[in-house]
Amino acid sequence: MLSGKTILIGITGGIAAYKICELIRQLKKSNANVKVICTPNALNFVTKLTLQNLSQNDVAVEEFNIKEWKPEHISLADEADIMLIAPATANTISKIAYGIADNLLTSVACAFSKKMIIAPAMNCNMWNNDAVKNNIKTLRSRGIEILEPENGFLACGYFGKGRLCSIKKIFDAVIENIKYSQLLSGKKVVITSGGTIEDIDPVRYISNYSSGKMGFALANSAKQMGAEVVLITTKDFDAPYKIIKVKSALDMQNALDYEFSTSDIIIMAAAVADYRVKEYSDQKRKKTSNQTITLELVENPDILKGLCEKRQNSQKKPLIIGFCAESENLIENAKTKISKKGCDYLIANDISRTDIGFGSENNEVTILDKNGGMKRLEKASKSVIARQILEYIDE
Ligand code: CTP
Repeated sequence: MLSGKTILIGITGGIAAYKICELIRQLKKSNANVKVICTPNALNFVTKLTLQNLSQNDVAVEEFNIKEWKPEHISLADEADIMLIAPATANTISKIAYGIADNLLTSVACAFSKKMIIAPAMNCNMWNNDAVKNNIKTLRSRGIEILEPENGFLACGYFGKGRLCSIKKIFDAVIENIKYSQLLSGKKVVITSGGTIEDIDPVRYISNYSSGKMGFALANSAKQMGAEVVLITTKDFDAPYKIIKVKSALDMQNALDYEFSTSDIIIMAAAVADYRVKEYSDQKRKKTSNQTITLELVENPDILKGLCEKRQNSQKKPLIIGFCAESENLIENAKTKISKKGCDYLIANDISRTDIGFGSENNEVTILDKNGGMKRLEKASKSVIARQILEYIDE
């Protein structure tokens, strides 16, 4: 399972540091390449020689131990498939939450863009401190997995929540995440996001409230699952995969046509404007003396439907997923829409609710499949929903 994978373990200065020796042995037995970084304080609890022998690699501690052109904090971050910090002290947790990079471990954490798991261990009063709680919340909101400490007798003499969770739990979390990071490997996933913008004149346009966040969350999850990702979006996002910025429905259609023949999965999360103005005005339209004006609109192509039709006569047959935004009769309308469009899955979104959907950080959706199956995903953050959607369609 772990052969060919590099697990980067950050050890900070807590008594539970000695337990990580056993974890390193287990990871090595599973054929992982294990790299260890220690904070200087961690070496008060466990020796560099022990960690070096167990991991069969150099143990990094000093930030400015520069042996090659690429600084160590960048090369360690680049090389690893996953980063685990265990035990993580309140100090290191808080620094990472604030982006402080004042030693090698925190610098690597700051430069690390793949999956990170943190297993805290500390005195129970420190764990319950509001500042620490907030910092944990911040880390979670960034997609960092926290393996909560357990209740028990603590090395400081207290009894409470603060013990490092079991080594088995940490090991299983690493395996789970490595499996997850390979679910879509070898697949190209093309995702659209955001509301299209249909210009009226140089200063005005027709658009909608879509924030593009659901599509962005899907693109991030697909990337974490090992896919080659292309995000075609009307919004400004920065991410470690190909992003094609588009404006109108016609631009989006062109970009999709270009990517179609190499795609394995296409997800239309964008809110495409159904109409555009018939005649774009090069000059700003002036106010008239009339109390009402009429804008003549023409229909935009139904991109999703077009893709499903194109697939019928194409050698490449990507899985095609649509979204459906409804303000009433969600399931009924979604059922009609999936058969009308001809896609494999349709993700139905209730836009009448203000706590989910457009602009919100959360969503709650029902996945319909072309054979009449249905799966409801309970309200959760868009990144959790994205992950669940991708896992479901990949089954
Ligand atoms: N869609 C599309 N091209 C359009 C309109 C919508 O590809 N011109 C796609 C959307 O990206 C989404 C799905 O079709 O994946 C459903 O979009 P939705 O706005 O819910 O439905 P419409 O087809 O526009 O129908 P209506 O507005 O009447 O509900």
